[in-house]
Amino acid sequence: MNVTPPTRDMLDPIEYTSHDDLKALQLARLKWSVRHAYENVEHYRRSFDASGVRPDDLTELSDLAKFPFTMKDDLRQNYPYGMFAVPREKIVRIHASSGTTGQPTVVGYTQKDIDTWADMMTRSMRAAGVRPGDIVHIAYGYGLFTGGLGAHYGAERLGCTVIPMSGGQTERQVQLIQDFKPRVIMVTPSYLLAIADEFARQGLDPRDSSLEIGMLGAEPWTQAMRCEIEQRFDMQALDLYGLSEVIGPGVASECVETKDGLHIWEDHFYPEIIDPKTGEVLPDGEKGELVFTSLSKEAFPIIRYRTRDLSRLLAGTARTMRRMEKISGRSDDMLIIKGANVFPSQIEEQILLDNRLSPHYVLEVTRQGPLDNLDVVVEIKPDYENELASLADDCETMLKKHVKTVAGIGIGVRVVRVGQIERSMGKAKRVIDMR
Ligand code: DLL
Repeated sequence: MNVTPPTRDMLDPIEYTSHDDLKALQLARLKWSVRHAYENVEHYRRSFDASGVRPDDLTELSDLAKFPFTMKDDLRQNYPYGMFAVPREKIVRIHASSGTTGQPTVVGYTQKDIDTWADMMTRSMRAAGVRPGDIVHIAYGYGLFTGGLGAHYGAERLGCTVIPMSGGQTERQVQLIQDFKPRVIMVTPSYLLAIADEFARQGLDPRDSSLEIGMLGAEPWTQAMRCEIEQRFDMQALDLYGLSEVIGPGVASECVETKDGLHIWEDHFYPEIIDPKTGEVLPDGEKGELVFTSLSKEAFPIIRYRTRDLSRLLAGTARTMRRMEKISGRSDDMLIIKGANVFPSQIEEQILLDNRLSPHYVLEVTRQGPLDNLDVVVEIKPDYENELASLADDCETMLKKHVKTVAGIGIGVRVVRVGQIERSMGKAKRVIDMR
């Protein structure tokens, strides 16, 4: 499916400004943001003082490296409103992370922050080829999660017709796509696959649907997964990145003309890549942990937030802003199996090399004595289900061999029937750690 990229007159001028102009804007905004955090948030005042830095010490962009990091734990400790930099009455919206372990983290927005967020989502959607007048089906969850409402406000602002479906009710998702004929779907890649399966279950081919563009994110997904989704739907699948602590979806997004990583909307979110072990800032091009500083947020300024997401920064192509390479994983998702480091994304790529295997899988980690074991449980594709008994051995041998080659570890593999792996309605849980 071909999708026409936006022409220059549709873009915000800052998207194609010179590097010098962008840097000048960033520096002015960074100075403001650091001071705003220091003067209005007790946590930043204490942490800057403890590190011996003051807002005045920031005279160029690279001075940011002198400032302390902010961790998820800092947000937890300041639950619920301790990190807010404006009086509570100025907060027009709250979002929160699910908080599977311990306290959830809470973020807040002023009306201006909500407007900036909508603008960044609009920019992301335009970059993906979405146009005013398009029908947009939103299957990201609505509620405290930023996915649904973040996408919603951006789509409305762009002038689209929004279907606020939220996640779940998979049968109904298909029915509404058939009836309302959206051009665009915004959803996690794993849930889009569950929707594709439901099309098939109803005897429908997703390729015949009205969908032309998918804006997919909120979880790691590989290039192999992109190919799988694009083929199944005959659509353009674009990567959309963000996190609640920084604003929500719309921090970075892929441009349909290049699809070569995600342009970071650097006029509002300043990125750094650090060595996750030493905290040292790495030059562009090197792989490490993404760190973000907000440049314009009022309610919840965030200074040097350690995302745990692993990527690298690359020069801009379709826009002046730098790109981040597709996230290869989170540092806390890294599995250490028999002394070797493995990311779920590496396994996903190997699974999808075998066209008999589906993208529905989980990784089970167990411990036997001192050793960790990794078992990949993966569903066979429906087309091959009748031959499962005769194919399973070969699929298992092949996958073991491929993983051994790329990751250097021996794993167990179980190929199972269609429907055996639980479908997510939002972010997929890929790793079941039974240690
Ligand atoms: O997931 C915001 C979002 C909603 C982004 C919808 C894109 C689309 P959180 O729930 O705070 O916010 O989770 C943020 O999700 O640190 C990454 O680990 C992961 N993540 C988000 N987008 C991507 C992506 C939303 N495109 C965390 N690729 C982040 C890989 C992603 N991981």
